[in-house]
Amino acid sequence: KQTLNIVKLKNMKKKGVPITMLTAYDYPSAKLAEEADIDMILVGDSLGNVVLGYDSTIPVTLDDMVYHTRAVARGAEDTFIVADMPFMTYHGNIDESLRGVRRLMQEGHAHAVKMEGGAEIADTVKRIVQSGVPVLGHIGLTPQSVNQIGGYRIQGKDAQDAQRLMNDAKALEAAGAFAIVLELVTEEAAADISKELSIPTIGIGAGRYCDGQVLVYHDLLKYASPYRDKRFVKTYADVGSIIRDGIAQYVKEVKERSFPAEEHVFKAEYKAEISETT
Ligand code: KIV
Ligand code: NA
Repeated sequence: KQTLNIVKLKNMKKKGVPITMLTAYDYPSAKLAEEADIDMILVGDSLGNVVLGYDSTIPVTLDDMVYHTRAVARGAEDTFIVADMPFMTYHGNIDESLRGVRRLMQEGHAHAVKMEGGAEIADTVKRIVQSGVPVLGHIGLTPQSVNQIGGYRIQGKDAQDAQRLMNDAKALEAAGAFAIVLELVTEEAAADISKELSIPTIGIGAGRYCDGQVLVYHDLLKYASPYRDKRFVKTYADVGSIIRDGIAQYVKEVKERSFPAEEHVFKAEYKAEISETT
């Protein structure tokens, strides 16, 4: 019943139909994203930041990704699911990379994997694609390399950097990537790449001219996201305050003994009989 595949995705670009992607990390987030008709779910290693409470994606392990991908797959049985290859699981030998891919697909039930990097990982992307696995590229700001980049900086500001991104995008397309995420890229550079490639670009903080958009679940919903003031995020609902208010009300009612009330309790018959006879 899965409604999307990479052939349909490429056709969406051709027809100019915007592609929607959202992250999810567990059963309820996946279920709600599917019910809202999202095209693709990304089990992102942003898991580390927004679900596990780390301050980067670097501590996220393959076991973490498999565990969460499996939960997402149970929540969104009809949706195309992409899982992130976590930090340092695709830079050693190809067998190690393929083992990670196998686990995300066979144990996690992902339909595709995503890897950060450009020309330097093109050979690995090619090998994975050749083994029958759709690969989503990811260039621009690549959080797994944050310590090398020196912070969460906008990419593609000058002509030389824009050209580097274009070269990386072309290398990934040539390696067989089915689409490419552009993260924190200037609108001009992202537009040029989107125009040049025949595969779709999925932007996050990459402007209006990408073929699709992706956002992090907890950012979109203001759900206790650790991030503040991200210009590229639009808050569509304030789930955090709804949850906080709900819990606060529960705490208050237990403290003042107004919950549980009569309608929430189970009565024993023998006690009722006793009280009748006394
Ligand atoms: O991990 C993630 O959520 C991502 C998106 C920001 C593209 O990689
Ligand atoms: Na990621």
